[in-house]
Amino acid sequence: MKNRLPELLSLPKIEDPRGNLTFVEGLVHVPFEIKRVYWIYDVPGGVSRGGHAFREQEEFIIALSGSFDVEVNHGCGSQRVHLNRSYYGLYIPNGLWRHLDNFSTNSTALVLSSTDYDESDYIRDYEEYLQYRNNR
Ligand code: TYD
Repeated sequence: MKNRLPELLSLPKIEDPRGNLTFVEGLVHVPFEIKRVYWIYDVPGGVSRGGHAFREQEEFIIALSGSFDVEVNHGCGSQRVHLNRSYYGLYIPNGLWRHLDNFSTNSTALVLSSTDYDESDYIRDYEEYLQYRNNR
């Protein structure tokens, strides 16, 4: 099995005294076509989001404001990344368990997804995830 790992990718940053600008294009700055965008906000202190893997869906997660951590489990260990700039983000290939925590006040997590929403693509049970990894 090819074990693809999460990757921190930087985005273009157009610096300007009027304020900076960053943009993202599918298949240019992220390695998939962007099919859906969602964002997580008004997160109460101390909570965790995510806690699942996707069979097919690839994602790119940006801390549009504030900061938070993303922990990705790739079967043979895990990697924790602190996101706190809006000009880079974490690419997570399909098939990896992740959760987001340590959200700062007023943070916003912007998530670009390679697929439409499909609940059947989620693996929400960690034991099932470990079996899925072993059988790939
Ligand atoms: P979920 O992906 O479990 O949230 P997170 O990973 O951030 O903790 O989604 C939470 C709920 O929102 C779940 O009931 C499904 C729904 N949802 C949609 O209807 N469409 C979407 O695009 C997303 C991402 C979630």
